Amino acid sequence: MEKDIILSGDRPSGRLHIGHYAGSLAKRLELQQMNIPMYIMIADMQALTDHAEDGTLVRDSVMELAIDYLAIGLDPEKCTIFIQSAVPQLCELTMLYMNFVTLARLKRNPTVKNEMQQRNFGDTVPSGFLNYPVSQTADITAFKATLIPVGEDQLPMIEQCNEIVRHVNHLYKTDCLKECKAMLSQVSRLPGTDGNLKMSKSVGNCIYLSDDEKTVKTKIMGMFTDPGHLRVEDPGKVEGNPVFAYLRAFDPDKEALAEMEAHYQRGGLGDVKVKKHLNEVMQTLLEPIRERRAELEEKRPQIRELLLSHSEKAAAAAAETLAELKEAMGLNYRNI
Ligand code: TRP
Repeated sequence: MEKDIILSGDRPSGRLHIGHYAGSLAKRLELQQMNIPMYIMIADMQALTDHAEDGTLVRDSVMELAIDYLAIGLDPEKCTIFIQSAVPQLCELTMLYMNFVTLARLKRNPTVKNEMQQRNFGDTVPSGFLNYPVSQTADITAFKATLIPVGEDQLPMIEQCNEIVRHVNHLYKTDCLKECKAMLSQVSRLPGTDGNLKMSKSVGNCIYLSDDEKTVKTKIMGMFTDPGHLRVEDPGKVEGNPVFAYLRAFDPDKEALAEMEAHYQRGGLGDVKVKKHLNEVMQTLLEPIRERRAELEEKRPQIRELLLSHSEKAAAAAAETLAELKEAMGLNYRNI
């Protein structure tokens, strides 16, 4: 059996929040223990597909993202943390794959469709935006990655990637492109502190990994709960209550949590008490991350070097796959 390779990535367009942590960062930390080769990509090119006017935000977020990664405990001895735009082979692969994907197929991708609606793009969608699943296929296949830790919204990307892989491999009788599998975290998407379905920077309902102790506490104490739970004695709802969604994601004591939920549902347990408990749980998770972050802040030049040297390593791996694919497609020009 061939060995697995992991690839995952994030767009640098702001700081990481606890939704990212529950959704895919925790999974990466777990995988890191298993000694499977892991690539972690800072997807600056992809960030430009929806932040084209804000190159500075993207640039500045690259370092912040790298610091977040190292602060949560991703280990540069064990994984390759690189910058997408520093691996130009990814652009070449994207360009080749674009010939195998129709406009109709791109528009049908449910995640893209959703995002296009949210942004009111219609026909004015930048072609780079529409094409980002193809670019993501390049990211995945370049490293022959087989396992992709992602959130649920990325499943259509994995499906589209595998379609392209099968199509190209079949057409050119090669096996240089590998199919991949999504690895979903057990935790479903975390709602915002305001009860909104999604945490989003623009709505201002996120708890960031880099928030200080006081900010975290203020955000938690101000969280939306069950609007029908007016008096402490009233029975409260746990489903759709973001405080319990966070506890389910982060409270290590599942038994005590089950009891707490039952108590809340029976009535007699106040929101303030539950929030105080959540605050303790979150501070325990975030405190060590904060401490490491403070140390890392002093090491920016070294982190920059690390990103560049890891990007070179990544480029060498991507160059091999690109050469194999070009060979299979006859783009070698040795004998013309
Ligand atoms: N689309 C991913 C996100 O927004 C980021 C990403 C880019 C990615 N390329 C990838 C994730 C390749 C997994 C594999 O979170």
